[in-house]
Amino acid sequence: MAVTKLALVATIMACMVISGSHGQATLSCDQVTVWLLPCVSYAVLGGNVTQLCCQGIYSLNKGYKNGDDRRSVCQCIKDRAALIPGINYKRVNQIDSLCGTKCPIKVYPNTNCSKVQ
Ligand SMILES: *[C@@H]1O[C@H](CO)[C@@H](O)[C@H](O)[C@H]1NC(C)=O
Ligand SMILES: *[C@@H]1O[C@H](CO)[C@@H](O)[C@H](O)[C@H]1NC(C)=O
Repeated sequence: MAVTKLALVATIMACMVISGSHGQATLSCDQVTVWLLPCVSYAVLGGNVTQLCCQGIYSLNKGYKNGDDRRSVCQCIKDRAALIPGINYKRVNQIDSLCGTKCPIKVYPNTNCSKVQ
């Protein structure tokens, strides 16, 4: 219970830090990578998504402020995913629904991220 609360506080703090900066895209690719790293094993190997992976997805979903964020996150995921050998894009795009949420972007190797709204 205490651990859960701590994780929640950490998540909220991370979101506050992000929403603190105004202007263009507010989500850095490094931050996005940290959130999504626990999802990589599912994307490559399958099995089950972990709680940590879903936490990352929730944080990411809360982090989007505008289209610039969605476009830069799309490009970030696309670039990083391309570096992961054996990544399965079908699984990548299933993670949000497996976590009971919905991501505003789908990423495939041929996704044109500048068209993301
Ligand atoms: C996935 O989760 C289900 C239900 O919690 C469990 O029965 C199953 O063994 C898990 N599979 C793997 C590969 O961990
Ligand atoms: C992506 O979409 C933008 C805007 O519609 C377009 O200008 C650009 O050429 C497209 N890029 C690719 C690689 O298709």
